[in-house]
Amino acid sequence: MIKMSTGLCLALAGSALASFPLQAKEVVSTADRRADQALAKMTFEEKVRLLHGPMTALVAPAKRPQGVVIGAGYIEGVDRLGVPVLVETDASLGVSNLMDMRKGDVATALPSGLSLAASWDPELARAGGAMIGSEARAKGFNVMLVGGVNLVRDPRAGRNFEYLGEDPLLAGTLVGGQIAGVQSNHIIATIKHYALNNQETGRNVASVEMDEAPMRESDLLAFQIGMEKGDPGSVMCAYNRIGGTYACENKFLLTDVLRRDWGFKGFVMSDWGAVHSSEAIMAGLDQQSGEQLDGKRYFSDLLVKAIEEGKVPKSAVDTAAHRVLHAIYAHGVADHPLQPGQSIDYDAHADVAQRAAEQGIVLLRNEGDMLPLAASAKRIVVIGGNADVGVPGGGGSSQVAPVGGLKRVTKGADSGPAAGFAKRGYGGTAPLDALRAELPDAQISYLDGKDVAVAAAAARTADIAIVFAEKYAAEAIDQPDLTLGEGQDELIDAVASANGKTVVVLETGNPVLMPWQSKVPAILSAWYGGQRGGVAIARVLTGKVNPSGHLPVTFPASVDQLPNPVLPGSAAPAADKETRAVYGLQAGTKGFDIHYPEGSDVGYRWFDRKEAKPLYPFGHGLSYTRFRYHDLKITGGRMLTVRFTVTNSGARAGADVPQVYVTRPRKAKRLIGWAKPDLKPGESREVTITADPRVLADFDAGAQRWVLPASAVQVEVSTSATDPVLTGAAKMSRFNRKP
Ligand code: BGC
Repeated sequence: MIKMSTGLCLALAGSALASFPLQAKEVVSTADRRADQALAKMTFEEKVRLLHGPMTALVAPAKRPQGVVIGAGYIEGVDRLGVPVLVETDASLGVSNLMDMRKGDVATALPSGLSLAASWDPELARAGGAMIGSEARAKGFNVMLVGGVNLVRDPRAGRNFEYLGEDPLLAGTLVGGQIAGVQSNHIIATIKHYALNNQETGRNVASVEMDEAPMRESDLLAFQIGMEKGDPGSVMCAYNRIGGTYACENKFLLTDVLRRDWGFKGFVMSDWGAVHSSEAIMAGLDQQSGEQLDGKRYFSDLLVKAIEEGKVPKSAVDTAAHRVLHAIYAHGVADHPLQPGQSIDYDAHADVAQRAAEQGIVLLRNEGDMLPLAASAKRIVVIGGNADVGVPGGGGSSQVAPVGGLKRVTKGADSGPAAGFAKRGYGGTAPLDALRAELPDAQISYLDGKDVAVAAAAARTADIAIVFAEKYAAEAIDQPDLTLGEGQDELIDAVASANGKTVVVLETGNPVLMPWQSKVPAILSAWYGGQRGGVAIARVLTGKVNPSGHLPVTFPASVDQLPNPVLPGSAAPAADKETRAVYGLQAGTKGFDIHYPEGSDVGYRWFDRKEAKPLYPFGHGLSYTRFRYHDLKITGGRMLTVRFTVTNSGARAGADVPQVYVTRPRKAKRLIGWAKPDLKPGESREVTITADPRVLADFDAGAQRWVLPASAVQVEVSTSATDPVLTGAAKMSRFNRKP
């Protein structure tokens, strides 16, 4: 063993407290001054113009401002003062081109959010963000609606694939990286959907009923960390209600928390169709987006009327317009005018997407070191998952038709709210082609898996069978259960019964159940892999890439283990036919309350509290090499610092993600940090993890402070939320600070 680096500490993702670097502070004050100056020169009409905008596709071409490309929407500028038009595009997984809005347009597709989160790598998030942000700018956009950080509270939720998992520190750290990357292109990013829009069922009508403390310790903490690390120019308020009040008119969220406590200086834009009144401006909403979807011009004609009638003070317009201007100046949007139609180096961008996909793949199981594929495997049968055409992707506003186009396209849903816009399709490099390129000497055949008996027979005569199993997910629709569906469990079971050397590659937007697990020696979770997802899968299967992904979400053993075994709203007396068909309660249907019994103990914390054993725990992920943890040193007091050494004790180079969990008396365990050392065989590295006290503390709503009582805490250095390797203890002194 070579001990390379005693004293070489890895900076820990998630350890730093909120503090903008000096340079950022200077930018803020300059932006303030420039916003003041611009505002002083504006007419009332010009100020109001900054506060609302349409969905571009619904505006006749002749009526659109010059140079506005079709995307999610736009906000007119003030030409005479050099205030640019804001041209908006979705979103987190690439420059979305849903519904062929720009006919035939393609963009580099990043892997899904859960894949990115599985990398546990904020630098990768930044690189992905920088790449998609540069494409957005090249295509003519200066606002990217990127930064979805709603926590995965229910594995059935339709948009989980867009988000960054179930832990506030992990999700907040990664979204911060992503936003900073996007904004490095002088465009504004929009952290969303603020807040507690954790499911699609009833998203326009449901009310999340949660006390302030659990909210602050979970979903709001993810936003808070993301904003500190990413400094987004904008926040998008969500569709749902919280405590009975719509997110986009919720003063507690938009003013007390966002402005007073977090010091946010940018603007709040609404989600598309999430505005319900002009008075929302007084709660802290600054801009109505996609206004045709609201049906009423709340932030233009009706706002002017409300001011005339004395229902809204005129100064509210100044405040909101100033915030929009502030973001424009702080992020260099005015100083870097758009020049749509610039060329894009799609090959270089695909390399970024491939790196992300490779780091997001999680090796869930590898009995008898079945993977990487042995050189002796000459006859391989690949089955199912449309692996002959590409990798799947999720549907909805984030959908990207990748370079090379979307293939084998069908509707994303037969009925319900997603039926109108979600598409199901495959893109990027086909895993089958990629595997053939990686293994030129092997004989690789493909079957679509529709005939189970034929697939099993083919598996019987092959050296190895690789089954691709997929599950489609889309915005606006949750999933009825956690099964793979479409006969895939039966297919895998039959193939694995026919050939003991079966590998399953899961391509899903959510955790799924695996009734066949014990029969299948090797299982990979490859999520939705994006532009080069197929290449990434092939390179992991063959061992060119040593897998290093770790689950950002718990895979439950059954829905009965979930805090809400029945998805909230799904069993409500159906107000319309569609509800019965697919769970989605649309606007206009009766509202309902959502209770989250887990409170701030989302995901693995709930499992810890209930002592429930998941199918695969949060944080889990295997490697083709082995890692050893040793020399644990813990310092308590005011700040918890955990130091230990990681050694690659196997024969291959690889990256590991050691995680540190802390358990306070009578509390569920919490992730306080992690590292990602990349080590050659025999190499060691000491890592240091310093806890952000908020991750350890409780939020005292009465005192409006983060409070950690003096206490003895248990510390675990683990390979997952349930697999401690080193354990120790620390005495923490009392901690008490403002939010
Ligand atoms: C989604 C947002 C998206 C917006 C604009 C809404 O349906 O919830 O995430 O940014 O549409 O496309």
